[in-house]
Amino acid sequence: MENRVTFDYSKAMQFIGENEITSIKAIAETAKNILVEKSGAGNDFLGWIDLPDNYDREELKRIQAAGDRIAESSDVLIVIGIGGSYLGAKAALDFLRSPYYNSTDSRRKGRPEIYFLGNSFSGEEIADVLGLCEGKRVSVNVISKSGTTTEPAIAFRFVREYMESRYSAEELKHRIFATTDRKKGALLTLAKQNGYETFVIPDDIGGRFSVLTAVGLLPLAAAGCDVRKMLDGAKAEKEKLFADPKNNPAYRYAVARTHMLNSGKGVEILVSYDPYLRSFIEWWKQLFGESEGKDGKGIYPSGCIFSTDLHSLGQYIQDGRRVLFETVLEQEEPCGELKVPTDAADADGLNYLAGMTMPEITAKAELGTKLAHAEGGTDSLIVNFDRKDEFTFGALCYFFFIACAASAYMLGVNPFNQPGVEAYKRKMFELLGKPGYQK
Ligand code: PA5
Repeated sequence: MENRVTFDYSKAMQFIGENEITSIKAIAETAKNILVEKSGAGNDFLGWIDLPDNYDREELKRIQAAGDRIAESSDVLIVIGIGGSYLGAKAALDFLRSPYYNSTDSRRKGRPEIYFLGNSFSGEEIADVLGLCEGKRVSVNVISKSGTTTEPAIAFRFVREYMESRYSAEELKHRIFATTDRKKGALLTLAKQNGYETFVIPDDIGGRFSVLTAVGLLPLAAAGCDVRKMLDGAKAEKEKLFADPKNNPAYRYAVARTHMLNSGKGVEILVSYDPYLRSFIEWWKQLFGESEGKDGKGIYPSGCIFSTDLHSLGQYIQDGRRVLFETVLEQEEPCGELKVPTDAADADGLNYLAGMTMPEITAKAELGTKLAHAEGGTDSLIVNFDRKDEFTFGALCYFFFIACAASAYMLGVNPFNQPGVEAYKRKMFELLGKPGYQK
């Protein structure tokens, strides 16, 4: 069996003793049972657990076919969605390709540029992206489970107007794809009225657990990613995690971070030394923040790219309020093996590094940082994965899904609702004068 994702807390042993882990294991055991028996709060949103086994095969074929058609007919794909309806696809695109995907032919390999809209109220961004579309063939994937979220709905109105100015109603049936609820919502109604092809977000999978559904898979298929391998990776991770519950690394991670919280470390920084994981960290922040942060509880999820952020937040992490711990995403297989060139003049004094690869330098920076942060009282948990491919991406997502649900159950909160997100919407709707929301 593949062993793509592992967890190591040995570097944090000054904070977590084996005794503490043992004592908290009982709570983890309960959380695990709740998850396996599907008996906890929000248990009608556990569809992601068995998704890698029982995903809709026909829909996957449609996703792959639509992805290929988009690639053939389009230079640009605009993906409209917010929160769980875009963060996973963006994370995977940067992880599997590059944040420079849109500007590097070699990473794109003839596939369309992909722009994300509808994740803010920025009119500037909408105008800029539509400006980038001029003279290019465009397709659109609008994604919203509820079908009524304001940010993507507004963006889609602008984008639809733009598309209608360029293409006939008949052609738009082949250029606009809607990913939404199977039965209800304004987006579904709009799609049916206009004949757009639709893809389903299953009823029992919430937004932030939906990256392995059409939500993530259609944009990624358009980008040429092997989306079936993502599901295979999640399936392998599922088998591994459930085969040996006692040593399940996702539960161990959940236990370790819960222990950190109980010892006053209320902020977790997910760290990567790879800037191409920045969007993955954003995806993870939403997963944990929206799942755990309720009823006055939860760890505040934050993220850093090192060494970039060592030159901004490093001071605080080393020396500020001692409320932080780090979880470091470590990649086994190095990428970008550039070697530091020799320079006969050595005016910059760097010849002591000549011949070293960038991953070798990164490894030293990482070890040095871990040691320094431990001395300063900020210790590290480690989540290790082997390489940046589709299989591993699926495995990593599944690992964090399980860890997140178990962590929330250990805290005693429902991982699958987000009542707090409604608060800003109510106030905003009052101010905007949305019917039904006036004071
Ligand atoms: O995780 C969630 O459920 C949320 O972040 C949603 O994904 C987000 O609010 C977007 O919702 P919708 O897909 O209904 O537009």
